Amino acid sequence: MAHDPLFLSTAIEAAISAGRIHRKYFRQDVLVQKKGPIDLVTAADLEVEREFRALIIDRFPAHVVLGEEQGTSAGDRRPASHRWIIDPVDGTTNFAHGIALFCVSIALEIDGQIEIGVVYDPMADELFSAERGQGARLNGAPMRVSENSQLIDALLCTGFPYSVHLERREMVEVFAAFLGQAQAIRRLGSAALDLCYVAAGRFDGFWEQSLHPWDMAAGVLLIEEAGGRVSRYGNEPLDIYGRELVASNGLLHSSMVEAIQSVQRAV
Ligand code: IPD
Ligand code: CA
Ligand code: CA
Repeated sequence: MAHDPLFLSTAIEAAISAGRIHRKYFRQDVLVQKKGPIDLVTAADLEVEREFRALIIDRFPAHVVLGEEQGTSAGDRRPASHRWIIDPVDGTTNFAHGIALFCVSIALEIDGQIEIGVVYDPMADELFSAERGQGARLNGAPMRVSENSQLIDALLCTGFPYSVHLERREMVEVFAAFLGQAQAIRRLGSAALDLCYVAAGRFDGFWEQSLHPWDMAAGVLLIEEAGGRVSRYGNEPLDIYGRELVASNGLLHSSMVEAIQSVQRAV
């Protein structure tokens, strides 16, 4: 079903303005606070989310916003047909250390299904965008997942949650299993960008546990629209509120699920 064109254009407009805010603060002496022992938040995270909320309230007053820094905004607890999901800076640890690998991730969920996904990497000036049923684009040009069908030829990517200190055994075992089977593994530090790189055919697959909806929402639509697959670790349909995610070019999906499940059977 075609949506109001204002939805996608608003997501793109908001992503580009978020990138301006990122650039304003990046590698400046920006205040970094701790939300947990290793979980950071900067002035850029807060300003991007604040501006996004103001834009949505102004343009679509009936819509709800779910954002990493403020949760679901006050007054928005009613069931919503239209829910915007934003990660204002995905890759905050990189951002805080002056490493140019981060992005903003914006998605629109309509009646429980992600319909719009936009991710913008302001340092590379790469805009990843998708609308359900319309394909995925990188800076306006169509993009597709890779065609590798063998794990030994696959460049995979993963990430570790802020709870890694408490629950790392299975994560390390899964990592070790893929180390033994894939061509190579990367850990970039921005789950949303990792997913875009799968959609663009740069990575062949990605997995991570303990993700949040704002990490995944836009990226999973980008992958599906680029011809790839996403699921839970046991190959069940993905639930963006459910935390774990395997994403691939489709051809590698069953091998990746099998590698994870063989570890889960053993630990
Ligand atoms: C984090 C990044 C990281 C992933 C973590 C996320 P943040 O998001 O996406 O790559 O491994 O699980 O929480 O905190 O930078 O928005
Ligand atoms: Ca994130
Ligand atoms: Ca974030």
